[in-house]
Parts: sequence; C-alpha cells; structure tokens
Amino acid sequence: MKNILCIGAGYVGGPTMAMIARKCPDYNVVVVDINEERIAAWQSDELPIYEPGLAELVKSTAGKNLFFSTDVAAEIEKADIIFVSVNTPTKTFGKGAGKAADLQYWEKTARVILANSKSDKIVVEKSTLPVRTADAMERILKTAPDGIKFEVLSNPEFMAEGTAVEDLEDPDRVLIGGHDTESGQKAVQALVDIYRHWVPEEKVVTMNLWSSELSKLAANAFLAQRVSSINSLSAICEATEANVAEVSRAIGMDSRIGSKFLKASVGFGGSCFKKDILNLVYLCETYGLEEVARYWEQVVKINDYQQSRFVANMISSMFNTVADKRIAVLGFAFKADTGDTRESPAISICKLLLDEQANVVVSDPKAIGNAKKDLAEYADKVEYEEDVYAAVKGAHAIAVLTEWPMYETLDYKKIFDLMEKPQFIFDGRNFLDHDMLYDIGFNVYSIGKAPKKHI
Ligand code: NAD
Ligand code: UGA
Repeated sequence: MKNILCIGAGYVGGPTMAMIARKCPDYNVVVVDINEERIAAWQSDELPIYEPGLAELVKSTAGKNLFFSTDVAAEIEKADIIFVSVNTPTKTFGKGAGKAADLQYWEKTARVILANSKSDKIVVEKSTLPVRTADAMERILKTAPDGIKFEVLSNPEFMAEGTAVEDLEDPDRVLIGGHDTESGQKAVQALVDIYRHWVPEEKVVTMNLWSSELSKLAANAFLAQRVSSINSLSAICEATEANVAEVSRAIGMDSRIGSKFLKASVGFGGSCFKKDILNLVYLCETYGLEEVARYWEQVVKINDYQQSRFVANMISSMFNTVADKRIAVLGFAFKADTGDTRESPAISICKLLLDEQANVVVSDPKAIGNAKKDLAEYADKVEYEEDVYAAVKGAHAIAVLTEWPMYETLDYKKIFDLMEKPQFIFDGRNFLDHDMLYDIGFNVYSIGKAPKKHI
C-alpha cells in the first residue's frame, strides 16, 4: 500500500484527500496541519468547513484509509507522495505587499519536508502559486543529504467551494505538470495512476511544470474577468434601461462565449480570484510586462467598483442617507452553500454601510461565525440574527448579498409587514422574484436592471 500525505487540511486539502481516499482504497491517505483545532474538527462529526456531501464522504473513509493528524514530521517520513495545500495569501508586508503571493507557509513546508525525509519522495504543488515556484521548492530540496531525491510536480486544484465534492468526483480536467526527464516522467506517471482510479484518461492532462502553474492562475483570471465584464455592463444597463439578465442570456447563447459565469452580482468574492489575479499582476510586473499587468489589474478594480456602486445606489435611493436606519443584510458568505466569507463582497458592503452610520444586522445560515470575525472592529455596532424574520423586524431596507436558495422561499408578505415604511429591497444577486416583491409593495432594486419602485 502506498502512502499519500497532504500538508494543509483546509478547504482544498480536506476534500481532495477525502476524494482520493474514497476512490483509491489501495492507498493510505493522511492529512496533516499545524492547526490542532482544525485537525480535531476533521476527526469529529463537526467538520471545520461546510460543503454539501462532504460529511458523508469523510465518514465513508475516515479511520479506514483516511486519517488526520498534527504529527507533520512523523507522517513526512512515512510518505511516498506529499501533496502541499497550504495557504498562499496575498502578501501584506514588504516587497510586493498587496499583490505578490506570501510564500512563507509554502517555504516552511519545503524545509519541514527536507528535515524529515529519509527516502525519495514526490512533492506535489496543490496550492496555487506564482509561475516557477517549483523551481524554488527544488532548490531547497536539492540541499538534501546525498542519496535522497525529490521530484516536484504541479497539480493545481480547480474545485469551487459549495460544489467541491461534485467537482472532485467529476472534474473537467486534472492537470499534472512535471519535468521532461526520466525521473520527472516517472513521478508524473505515479500521480496519473492515482487520478486514473476514477478520472477518464482524456481528462488527465500532462504538461510542463510552468504551463501547469500558469494555467491555474490563468483559469481563475479568465473566470473572474467574465464576472467583471458582465458587472461592468450591468452599470451600463442601469444607465440605459437595458436588462443585464437579457444581455447575459443573449451573449451566452453564442456557443463561442458560453452561458456560464455571466451572472451579474455585487462582485466576486472568495479566497482565490482576487489574490490569484494580483499574483498574476505581480508576476507580469516582475517580468517588466507593465501593460499586461494593468490589463489584469482592471478586473480587480471593476470588482471593487461594483461593490461601492451597490452601496452608493442604496444610499441614493434611500433619500441620500442611511444613518440610523436598520439595514438587514441577508447572506454574508461569498457564495451559496459555503460558510466561507474570505473576500466576500458582504464585508466591504457592510463596512461602507457602517461608515455611513447605518445599523447593520447580519443574517446567514452558515457564515455568522466568520462574519463576526470579519466585522470584529465594528463589534458593538453590528447585530447578528440567524433568524431572517428577527433580522428584518423594524428594518428600513434589506440587502441580499448571497444567493442562498432559502431566500427565494421566504414569506415576503410577512417580511414586508415587519419592516419600516417605505420598504426597500436590494437584490445583489438578481435571483429573487422581483415582480412578486414589487406587487407586495417593496421598492425593488437589483443589479443591471431598472428599479421597480412605488415612490
Ligand atoms: P486554507 O487556509 O483553508 O488551508 C490551508 C491550511 O494549511 C491551514 O489549515 C493551515 O493551518 C495549513 N498550514 C499552513 N502552513 C502549514 C505548515 N507549515 N504545515 C502544516 N499545515 C500548514 O486554504 P485553502 O482554501 O485550502 O487553500 C489552499 C491552497 O489551495 C491555496 O493556495 C489556494 O489558492 C488553493 N486553492 C483553493 C481553493 C478553494 O476553493 N479554497 C481552490 C483551488 C485552489
Ligand atoms: C473559484 C473557481 O471557480 C475554481 O475553479 C477555483 O478552483 C477556485 O476559485 C480557487 O482557485 O479557489 P470559488 O472561488 O470557490 O472557485 O467559487 P466560484 O464559484 O468561482 O465563485 C467566485 C465568486 O464569483 C463568488 O463570489 C460568486 O458569487 C461570483 N460569481 C460567480 C458571480 O458573481 N457571477 C457568476 O456568474 C459566477
């Protein structure tokens, strides 16, 4: 039985390794982390992250061929293949602050692998990294005492939160980048063998290391660019009475464009889009490609603009003031089906509203814990209500910021009666039934569509 180790038990490490353990009963899979609380949660019934289908997946393999541990050193020694899925956030200090990837966790991992290896190993980059990071990893690992050989591969992860289990079960493609040497290709084959347990041959794509690293940044940049493109058009729609949903449908029906990722919104959130584009921007700057850097940076700027534009619209439609008004924020997670709030548009929107002296009350089925941490600096000014009806009681306005399906089936007549008059609703996800809300009496504002108002 071969031993697989994954360093980093987060949103990527936990689900990906649970899927490998499930599909590869002939491998022993261990996931380690320095965060003891996180490992204890993976070992309990209360997993550290919410993801549909994940609890069942973990339950079916935990204790059989899937294990969680904090003993990083001992597990490295036993492993044949080591996946590294530690966090690679945007650097907040020093050179490249605000753009470059912070590789300190990554580098520490390389050193721990080096210190605890007594046999040859394959090291797999699962984290999203700047192009040529494998080079740095190899340079550290090459200082190993004679005889021990490491082969570094790139195997970026493309799963999205909220659909992690289905994405891992049936991926569009699996990328494996490796060196074009005999030992490099042998390592590539070892990783191909794992994925071929369930992924069809034509979807397992091998390529050179740098193409694989760049393809991950490129995929996120292209996806985010689509959202920023449609969001930029939403502003034109609001100015001209075109309807962004109609425009999106019309362009999406062109098979060359395709219909996915064209939903106008308050902006994209999540732990990766912004950081990966900034990572790409920094990479371009490093290579002196200023124009290319500015091109991609604009995708992030439009996203920031979309969020401030949403708040500006709220304020202007509510008679140019939200001071002392109760605003119920429905949904704080960066998308539905996750409790993750990293880079969620709700964070900046709530902060802008709080700075305007609004009384903000936040409701979310899975993300209130994280929301409290994100808005800690405003702790005494924000209220949290899991129950939507308690949140909207006495509210002047509702801002819907996450497309939780449960918000489509709320009793909006009851909500209307609980609110202050005139009742405003701002649908930041364009997914509610606006005609129905207008007929109840709400003044309805959405993204990229003419408002429906009674006053
Ligand atoms: P995360 O913060 O949820 O998890 C990372 C984990 O690594 C943390 O639990 C942390 O304690 C652990 N860690 C850090 N340093 C360590 C060390 N030296 N030894 C052991 N453990 C250590 O991050 P995530 O969302 O899982 O993302 C991980 C990587 O995968 C990032 O590079 C990200 O860009 C990429 N990625 C994320 C997603 C996603 O949907 N979240 C999807 C694809 C790729
Ligand atoms: C994204 C990618 O989709 C994954 O392929 C990738 O692996 C991952 O980033 C990563 O590298 O971390 P994720 O951030 O989990 O996944 O979620 P997405 O479904 O991509 O949504 C990102 C944001 O864009 C959300 O805030 C979502 O609401 C927003 N979005 C998405 C829109 O506003 N409109 C759309 O049409 C689609």
